[in-house]
This record gives sequence, structure tokens and C-alpha cells, in this order.
Amino acid sequence: MSSFRVHSQGPFTAPLSGAVEVGGAKNSALKLMAATLLAPGRSTIRNVPDILDVTVMGQLLERLGCQVRITPESSADSAATKPRLTVIVEVPAQLGHEAPYELVRRLRASISVLGPLVARCHRASVALPGGDAIGSRGLNMHMSGLEEMGAKCHVEHGQVIAKVDHELRGARLGLDFPSVGATENLLMAAVLAKGTTSIDNAAREPEIADLCSMLTKMGAQIEGATTSTLLIEGVDSLQPVEHTTVTDRIVAGTWAFAAALAGGSVRVVNGIAEHLDLPLDKLQRAGGEIDTDPDGFTVSFTNRPRAIEISTLPYPGFPTDLQPFAMALASVSEGMGMITENVFESRFMFAQELARLGADVRVDGHHASIHGGLALSGAPVEAHDIRAGAALVLAGLAAVGTTTVSHSHHIDRGYPAFAEHLRALGADVERS
Ligand code: EPU
Repeated sequence: MSSFRVHSQGPFTAPLSGAVEVGGAKNSALKLMAATLLAPGRSTIRNVPDILDVTVMGQLLERLGCQVRITPESSADSAATKPRLTVIVEVPAQLGHEAPYELVRRLRASISVLGPLVARCHRASVALPGGDAIGSRGLNMHMSGLEEMGAKCHVEHGQVIAKVDHELRGARLGLDFPSVGATENLLMAAVLAKGTTSIDNAAREPEIADLCSMLTKMGAQIEGATTSTLLIEGVDSLQPVEHTTVTDRIVAGTWAFAAALAGGSVRVVNGIAEHLDLPLDKLQRAGGEIDTDPDGFTVSFTNRPRAIEISTLPYPGFPTDLQPFAMALASVSEGMGMITENVFESRFMFAQELARLGADVRVDGHHASIHGGLALSGAPVEAHDIRAGAALVLAGLAAVGTTTVSHSHHIDRGYPAFAEHLRALGADVERS
């Protein structure tokens, strides 16, 4: 089992210094790959992160009848720190409609083939991806939205089965919660439905705007991208497309928190500051300096941070995916930090691992209070999910001694070349 080993003398003893370049967003690229299903022919997605999930999504598309070619974008000398891929998908006129459990269970994003399959094949059988270490992750909004558009949906033998008897038709949809996955699936179904669909209380994450941008290039009629009401006029068919994935705001935000935890100055090349308004504002309140430039932004911390309060919410709120980093930061900041988790109920499981490094976190339902200013000390800990794993590595930069983060395959799913990037910034980190 692979792990990250982090050696440190404590926060601000070896400040980070340098630049990291951030590539395309995992949570966009995987959905863009699913969206290629909507148009027969060859689509090309660029700036795709070099992570296992992309390989698995490629295998799933192949199972549905596509030919998929995944090639490195970067030259050999920069491959270690700029691991980007181009994904070319040849989509056949006749698609398969069954997404099997052995592939779907390996990544949650595979549920995003549901909308395109219903739109193209008028039927789909997609294995339930199941819950994971951050919460239960229901599909009720995906299914009820498709039903309003004329599909019949049910779960049988672990599969979501959707079937359209006549045609998929536009409908007025309203989500109970601005779910990213439900918005994406319903949007991808609506672009080929008959008539107009409106999605109220839609998620507004930059990855959804990226999907809207690709669908529009394919010929879809969408109004309101980046707002909480999407208006879609269905078209008869779409064309294949070439598209470049938006920068990963969560990876960019992770590097911003790295500067806060270890001290020093990190330039985040390609980072889009406006996608991180609230996290960067919080880091500024914690004592950091943020400088934006045309190609990204720089985060600098010269003194130990002050405690902050955060409350996770759908975009443009504070992203749940950066919450574990905020908790790690609170544990070394001066004062009492407060965190409220409003998106994934089990994300506070991370507090138990952080406690192994000496953090003092009290959890009460979806609130956590963190008694900061303590000296963390290195210990063996375990990554339960992508973000918790990366946050433990960064917490290790602020803990005296050696921190070993096991189950590091979780980290690899969101952070291509994480150790190489950290070392380039001066951190003492190795893989074992
Ligand atoms: N929910 C329901 N019913 C539904 C859909 C969602 O109850 O039909 C609930 C979920 O259980 C959860 C909340 O709504 O409590 C939010 O779920 P959402 O659908 O917004 O999230 P997701 O699409 O499953 C994506 C990202 C997550 C990210 C969230 C929130 C992908 C593959 N995953 O998940 O990313 O945390 O949006 O921004 O896009 C990660 O990258 O580490 C990660 C977990």
C-alpha cells in the first residue's frame, strides 16, 4: 500500500517557495467525457488531469461502444510536474446503454453518463455508484428530474434503470438543493429533449459553466449558464467538439492552503482567483497576502495564521472540498476556529485522523470547533478520501517529525504529481 511521508520541524520552519501550475479540473473533465456521448463522431477534450478516474471513465465509454484514446499532452521533460492528457472519444451512432457495476463503483462521476444515455438511447441501466467516505450521496434528484421529463426510473438489483416510452420532453424542474451531479445529468438530458426545460435552483459551480460552454459549442441552446436558473431549448442533434477543460479550482485552493499551513509564498499558475473568492478572502482574514496577476495568483504567509470561521455551501459559497484544509489550518492557527459542514454529512470523519497529529477538534452534528495554536506532531494517519488525504499531507508540513499518510491512492485521484509539486516548493515529502 503506497503512502506519503512528510518530514517537518513544525509550521513556518521550512516555508514553501516557488510556483505550481494547475491543470484541468477532475470534476469537469469527467463530465465533459460523459457529454461526448451526446454527439456521434470524434470529440476531443484537452487539459485533462492525468489521474486514474480518467482511465476508468475512458473504459466506461468504451463499454458503451466508444473508442477512446488518451495521450499525454506535455513534453517528456515537463511530464513529471505538468501531467495533462488529451482524450479523444469516437462516439458511434448506436450506443450501448448499460454501465456495469465493476466500472461505476470505481468512480462517483460515472453516474453522469445517465443523462446522456437517456437522451441518446431513450434508456439506460447504470449501476448505483454507492455511498463513500464523505456521505450517502443520494440520486433522488437525478431520477425525479428525469421522470418529470417523461422517463420512468427505478432502482433494481443495484442498477438505476431509466426508460423513455415516447420522447424525452422539456419540463420545469426545481431542485431541492443545488446538486452538482443532478444539475449536470438533467442538463445533459435536456439538451436533446423536445421543447424547453428550466432547471431552478441549479448548481452554479464553474465546472457546470464549463459543461454548458462545451454543450453550447456542440450546438445546444442554453441560457443562464453561471446562474441558478438554466433554460434549455432542446435540439434534434448535436455535433462533436474540441474543448479545453477549466482549471481545477479545488487544486488551486489546495495550494493556497499549503502556503497558509507551512508558511511561505506559493504562486498558483493558472489559478482563477474569482473561482475562489471566499476561500481567498478567508485566507486573507487569517493573515495571508493574496496577489493576483494575469496568469494566476500568489498566496503568502509570513506569520502564523489567525483562526477563521467557515461554513460550506454550494458555489459561490465556501467549497466543501476545501473544508478539510480549513480544519487542518484551524488546528495550527491562533484562536478558536469554527467550521459548519452543510454539504456532506460524513466529512468530519477527517477530524479523527487530524486528532492523531494532536489537533483538538470538537464535533457537534455538522459543527466543529477547533482549538488552535497547538503544536502538531507527526504520526501515521490514513487518507479516507481525496481531500482528507491531501489535507493530512499538508497538515504534516506543520507537524513536528514524520507524518505517514497511508491509502494515498485516494490522493492520486485528485492530485496528479502531488509529491513532485510539493518537493518543487521545497517541502520534504516522499512516496513510499
Ligand atoms: N444529494 C441528494 N440527492 C441527489 C443529489 C445529491 O441528496 O439526488 C445530496 C448529496 O447526498 C450531498 C449533496 O446533495 O449531500 C451535494 O451533492 P452534489 O450532487 O452536489 O455532489 P456530487 O455531484 O455528488 C460533486 C463533486 C464532489 C463535490 C460536490 C459538491 C464530482 C464527481 N464530485 O459531487 O467532489 O464535493 O460536487 O461540490 O463532481 C471531490 O472532488 O473530492 C468531491 C467529492
